[in-house]
Amino acid sequence: MPTLNDIRSTFLNYFEKQDHEVVPSSPLVPRNDPTLMFVNSGMVQFKNLFTGVEHRDYQRAATAQKCVRAGGKHNDLDNVGYTARHHTFFEMLGNFSFGDYFKSEAIPYAWELLTKEFDIPKDRLLVTVYHTDDEAAEIWKKVAGLPDDRIIRIATNDNFWMMGPTGPCGPCTEIFFDHGDKYWGGPPGTPEEDGDRFVEIWNLVFMQYQQFEDGTRTELSAQSIDTGMGIERVAALLQGTNDNYATDLMRSLIEASADVSSTYPDGPGKTHHRVIADHLRSTSFLIADGVMPSNDGRGYVLRRIMRRAMRHAHLLGAQDPMMYKLVPALVRQMGAAYPELGRAQPLIEETLRLEETRFKQTLDRGLKLLDDELGGLPEDAPLPGAAAFKLYDTYGFPLDLTQDALREKGRNVDTAGFDTAMADQKAKARAAWSGSGEAADAAIWFDLAETHGATDFLGYDTETAEGQILALIKDGAEVNSLSTGESGWVVLNQTPFYGEAGGQVGDTGWLRRLANEDDQAEVTDTHRMGGGKVFAHHVTIQGGTFGKNDAVQLEVDHRRRTSIRANHSATHLLHEALRRALGDHVVQRGSLNAPDRLRFDFSHGKALTLEELNQVEAEVNDYIRQNATVDTRIMTPDDARNIGAQALFGEKYGDEVRVVSMGKRSGSGKGGTGDTYSLELCGGTHVARTGDIGVFVTMGDSASSAGVRRIEALTGAEAFAYLSQQDHRLAETALELKAQAADVPARVRALLDERKALSNEVAQLRRELAMSGGAGQTGGAESREINGVKFMAQVLSGVSGKDLPPLIDAHKSQLGSGAVLLIADTGGKAAVAAGVTPDLTATLSAVDLVKAAVAELGGKGGGGRPDMAQGGGASAENAQSAIKAAEAVLGG
Ligand code: SER
Repeated sequence: MPTLNDIRSTFLNYFEKQDHEVVPSSPLVPRNDPTLMFVNSGMVQFKNLFTGVEHRDYQRAATAQKCVRAGGKHNDLDNVGYTARHHTFFEMLGNFSFGDYFKSEAIPYAWELLTKEFDIPKDRLLVTVYHTDDEAAEIWKKVAGLPDDRIIRIATNDNFWMMGPTGPCGPCTEIFFDHGDKYWGGPPGTPEEDGDRFVEIWNLVFMQYQQFEDGTRTELSAQSIDTGMGIERVAALLQGTNDNYATDLMRSLIEASADVSSTYPDGPGKTHHRVIADHLRSTSFLIADGVMPSNDGRGYVLRRIMRRAMRHAHLLGAQDPMMYKLVPALVRQMGAAYPELGRAQPLIEETLRLEETRFKQTLDRGLKLLDDELGGLPEDAPLPGAAAFKLYDTYGFPLDLTQDALREKGRNVDTAGFDTAMADQKAKARAAWSGSGEAADAAIWFDLAETHGATDFLGYDTETAEGQILALIKDGAEVNSLSTGESGWVVLNQTPFYGEAGGQVGDTGWLRRLANEDDQAEVTDTHRMGGGKVFAHHVTIQGGTFGKNDAVQLEVDHRRRTSIRANHSATHLLHEALRRALGDHVVQRGSLNAPDRLRFDFSHGKALTLEELNQVEAEVNDYIRQNATVDTRIMTPDDARNIGAQALFGEKYGDEVRVVSMGKRSGSGKGGTGDTYSLELCGGTHVARTGDIGVFVTMGDSASSAGVRRIEALTGAEAFAYLSQQDHRLAETALELKAQAADVPARVRALLDERKALSNEVAQLRRELAMSGGAGQTGGAESREINGVKFMAQVLSGVSGKDLPPLIDAHKSQLGSGAVLLIADTGGKAAVAAGVTPDLTATLSAVDLVKAAVAELGGKGGGGRPDMAQGGGASAENAQSAIKAAEAVLGG
């Protein structure tokens, strides 16, 4: 009996033999379809190949595609667990032709695979065709030899497949399996068709048309094929059952659920196990593809599924969280086919454990409230909307969880009342905002947050995606469109653009309208508004008109983002290296992660020594070369702190935090070998492996504010450019010095010493020259007596102001008793110094002499002691009158 994994391999191998490219499943969050909540069929990732917008180097493909139907139009959530074939997660096997083969090959392939590879008896198969599709009917007759009564013509949309209101579409043929008359039901097209006997197993769509918004349809330039086979249904029939939950894979999950809860798989908890098995798959795969539980959009759908499963776990009597304990069983079953599941296993387990722990805290009280409410109502009366809203608002019960709980009691909810209660609460919240003193233009962002919910951020995994414009804002007001040359803000349902936060700058890039790719807008920045929920893209329209509801291709500037990522990850390594080099008092005080550099401010009282800086730089580079993967996990802030994650001082964190870890410790010391090196709470984007940082170089440290140092550093290409520039400078210097680069520091030191010695020598010589009345002397050096005081005045050139005091001293000792005035002509300006021998300072002050001289030289002030004073003037021209002014002080 083939297992589900065998069936997947058989399918893919068969089509590989028919020259099909086996393409991996796309992620569950559609990157190329803004209108879809989750990928719900195999063709989604190929949509643009059918319409001819995109080309790849293959024209035939086969996939096993992960699909989720739990939100939006296709919503199977309510029925899951209670029926044989409803799932929130399923796998769709498909073969595709993009303008290569068409009906006459697609039908024989399907028939051969089913009847030869899977060995399904021909007489158990029957097909439907679109009522006008004679060609398909003819091919079936010829290829399969089916009689007319087993080629059923259907006139409804059941046999005309469309992916949505717009896009590629065409008639289809569906293949059914007859499970036999022990089951109730009739063939397709009969009133009993919804019974369990005839089950559709494969849909072959003949992609022929493209449908547009206005309802018109055009022929596709190339006829194509899109097929979809539900693997769970085929597994059921090949394993002799018609219940998908009895197949090997689902059964193993049900048994794991029974084991963990110590209950029987087929006992009274049967439905609970089925719900848990199904929801385990959808939640795990969604988390692996980057969706996190939240109160908006995709995250809320995930939360609804998780909580529904958790209520069923509770009904099984599980005291402690149990969903996370089932993840290993799922990874064992599906990890080989979908490696992303194994890679995300710790993240999935933690997310489930956290959600279940938190939900358990309110679940009991919520269920009690539900019972109390029902107890007070007449039998059969629906639960009032206000009560359902209270369960939602206070106890975290999504509406469908309350409905699920009531279903077991045969009751329902007044959903209109629930909607009214929800609307009332929103109105109150809005009133609270307007009263909160927020700036007027902030209101528009909160309105958008309320109307559209949070923007889905896809940028941890991708830099390109499609999105739908929800709003355009210009000059603080919403507008319907922005056209060439205009600038404004654009809000989309989802985006790969990072909105500035946590020191990381916002992304830049481009938006292109899908309807006309020549219409392009440049995204110059991205911010988070409306309490951080709404990503606002600042754009300048380069060409065309961008309107509300337009579907656009979003592309982040890859080079810039790559550099930002490297800088952000390097900042984490730098933080840890600083803590290890300087101590645990090092706490982040601010950071900037820009494309061209990083800046990190941290608490530390003094400048780093060159040695410390070198040690930190070397350690960061060691961890870059370690090339360890960078991991991300979600946990409560408390759990994060308990495992030693670095959190920002004073920062407010929500219920859940993202913890980014990188590097394995080497060597001894705190933490020890093998432990995680850097562990930080962070919402930013990071490199996949530390080696992606390339190289790290610091540009020194400086003081940022009291007790806070700042390090600026470079990584990757910028670091390399910086290092090579430094290298060139060194080579140039070596060339000038006619030395080897290695000898440059010693040569520079020697030159500086030599220079110092020479300048001392020059100063000495100048003094000697001035004293000996040599060149440079422009005034008389003879002393005269004025009022009984020997006075010597001289004008010098070629000496500087600082040469004057020693000269004054020398003259004073030559005079024995008297006063000296020296004026140096320092290239137009004048420096003045005066000296009075100690025996005269009681009656004569050098300060007075200087002041008198300075006034003549166009200066102000002058000062010092009675025995020695200095000053300066704007011009040495009046040196002689300055001397006269000094003489006047002496009474001359
Ligand atoms: N797109 C079709 C379906 O979902 C066939 O793959 O049924």
